[in-house]
Amino acid sequence: MSNSKVWYITGASKGMGLSVVKELLSKGHQVAATSRTIASFKELRETGDRFLPLEVDLKNEASISASIAQTVGKFGRLDVIVNNAGYGLGGALEELSAEEINENFEVNFFAVVRVVQQALPYMRSQRSGHIINISSIAGFAPGMGWSMYCAAKFAVSGLTEALANDLKPLGIYVTNVMPGWFRTNFAKPDSIAYNQNQIKDYLYLRDYHEKMSNMDGAQLGDPDKIADVFLKLVDSLEPAVNLFLGSDAFNRAKAKIEQLRMEMDNWKEVSYSTDFCS
Ligand SMILES: NC(=O)c1ccc[n+]([C@@H]2O[C@H](COP(=O)([O-])OP(=O)(O)OC[C@H]3O[C@@H](n4cnc5c(N)ncnc54)[C@H](OP(=O)(O)O)[C@@H]3O)[C@@H](O)[C@H]2O)c1
Repeated sequence: MSNSKVWYITGASKGMGLSVVKELLSKGHQVAATSRTIASFKELRETGDRFLPLEVDLKNEASISASIAQTVGKFGRLDVIVNNAGYGLGGALEELSAEEINENFEVNFFAVVRVVQQALPYMRSQRSGHIINISSIAGFAPGMGWSMYCAAKFAVSGLTEALANDLKPLGIYVTNVMPGWFRTNFAKPDSIAYNQNQIKDYLYLRDYHEKMSNMDGAQLGDPDKIADVFLKLVDSLEPAVNLFLGSDAFNRAKAKIEQLRMEMDNWKEVSYSTDFCS
């Protein structure tokens, strides 16, 4: 395949990551995929020499560094990084422990920082590459009951947009992908986490958590359609910096933008009022 690229995808043993890996392999790409447990890739074992399964601890810089070196060692270069690993954390801020919060930020945000830091030396020396970070519509228009998850995804969105500016002069593109609800493992009890400590006053937030559980299996988004979106992005001469995935994400983002526009207009005088008078 002439247009074959080398991909490195985190958290790829299930959900979106797994769908993307399978689709890319079927289209002739070379794919390195990470998981906490390499055994979970057993269904992909027969895919041959274009697949590199990697057991990686995304909380450990040395583990990430070694896995990226292995990827470049095997395939000769690094074209696309997909920071996909992540999980939801429900609960009011007050209900969450420092451990719950730190763990969520470690996986959803600091792992992205570590992977990008370790990948950039290769991409810089190539003067090419594309980094795709999977944030969430929650990292743009927060819902209720997920404040720390939203904060981690806002951090991903902010970092990604800033990196897109910083890295473009080096020939490296960066895209922030914000999916709506997709039919993956995300809402299942072995993926999602909730506050262990409960405060009665926040009982109303449980409705939002229940909504997520009830949505499982009926989400609008089809993960098998994501790889084609990524291929379109990396083949584009002007790839999107921010891309919403799914009509639910698109419409929620539009509503947020309209709300923000109205609020800015309503408060414009106050915004201007702090300037020095000329
Ligand atoms: N599905 C949705 O509705 C939705 C919406 C918006 C954004 N997202 C985002 O999309 C990405 C993919 O999620 P998904 O829907 O495919 O969910 P998923 O089916 O639960 O898969 C999540 C992947 O992330 C990795 N992961 C989860 N917890 C981890 C941890 N504590 N440490 C290291 N890796 C961990 C897992 O990797 P292992 O292989 O190591 O198990 C797994 O393969 C996530 O960043 C998620 O926040 C999803």
